[in-house]
Amino acid sequence: MKLKNIRYVGVNDHDLDLFEGQYPAANGMAYNSYVILDEKIAVMDSVSVEFAEQWLSEIRRELGERSPDYLIVQHMEPDHSGSILHFMQAYPDVKIVASARAFAMIKNFFGMSFGEQKVVVGDGDTLSLGKRELTFISAMMVHWPEVIMTYDNEEKVLFSADAFGSFGALDVETEDWISEARRYYMGIVGKYGAAVQPVLKKIAALDVQTICSLHGPVLTDDVKKYIELYHIWSSFLPEEEGVTIAYTSIYGNTKKAALLLAEKLREKGQTVAVYDLARSDVFAAVADAFRYSKLVLATTTYNGNIFPAMSEFLYHLAERGYQNRTVGFVENGSWAPVALRWMKKRLEKCNGLRYLQNEVSILSALNESSMAQLMALAEELCEEKMEE
Ligand code: FEO
Repeated sequence: MKLKNIRYVGVNDHDLDLFEGQYPAANGMAYNSYVILDEKIAVMDSVSVEFAEQWLSEIRRELGERSPDYLIVQHMEPDHSGSILHFMQAYPDVKIVASARAFAMIKNFFGMSFGEQKVVVGDGDTLSLGKRELTFISAMMVHWPEVIMTYDNEEKVLFSADAFGSFGALDVETEDWISEARRYYMGIVGKYGAAVQPVLKKIAALDVQTICSLHGPVLTDDVKKYIELYHIWSSFLPEEEGVTIAYTSIYGNTKKAALLLAEKLREKGQTVAVYDLARSDVFAAVADAFRYSKLVLATTTYNGNIFPAMSEFLYHLAERGYQNRTVGFVENGSWAPVALRWMKKRLEKCNGLRYLQNEVSILSALNESSMAQLMALAEELCEEKMEE
């Protein structure tokens, strides 16, 4: 970290298989915490309870004999609040700074009220640490209702709670911030785009040079780019022109159609991401469905409905407000194909979807007729351009 008087005291979790019980965390997860050193000392959030002792020893390493004055609790989800009681035992005179809603959650989680040690803050409230002043920003539903962010005017740092976070432990090299941040945003925060927008407006009024999230790396370079991505994601707009093909296949015939379509589209210069939904991280597929402007759904008719992995995928899309995209359909069925109808039904609450005219209906395996439909779908997908 390049910051002058802010120290990282977070931890890396390499034992985790599924973050929040469902998101694959192959590269682990970081629970970030920071110490702000000034005339007064503030600790920004705690960590998951399994790491309480490690976290406290990181804090002691930074502070030596000094004691912190404040624990600032921006978010009460247990990956951040889990070690609050350990902290209060180690530093019994500290004050806890949080929103009123967070204190209600502290009571629910831990049965504690903390009496006079409570400092309740709301949107726009400030706390002086000496040279610097912290300003609190209500970030309700990003992604719990009690969330506050914190701006440090001295070092121009935004402590952003879960926002701008990503999957991955900090001691694991990852390809890029964006793909894991996108998967994180779409999975965890995505549904609450309408709540993210007003927070971004508040952030726009600040001079933010560094973002310290509760997950993922500290963001110092190109902060404007990260904020712009959050604008796009929270507006439910596609990030770039391209096609996600999400398919399920039982005996390989629907897979063959999906891969042929992908090949044809790539030949024509399209960017294509392909997911076998039964064998992929469904949230990676969800993230790319939101990333690209076009989506093709290909599935088999199964028990008079659609194949379960497609059903789960469509559930996650609809749940997260999937909208403003172009969608094409491929169905397969050996005697009574109905998958296409059911896929549309599952998307009927999604706004602003444009369905392509060329639909593909396969009877067991591709034949001349369904192959012609598939090629027509490819042509139509190439003609579709994302709105600027
Ligand atoms: Fe990282 Fe919403 O907890």
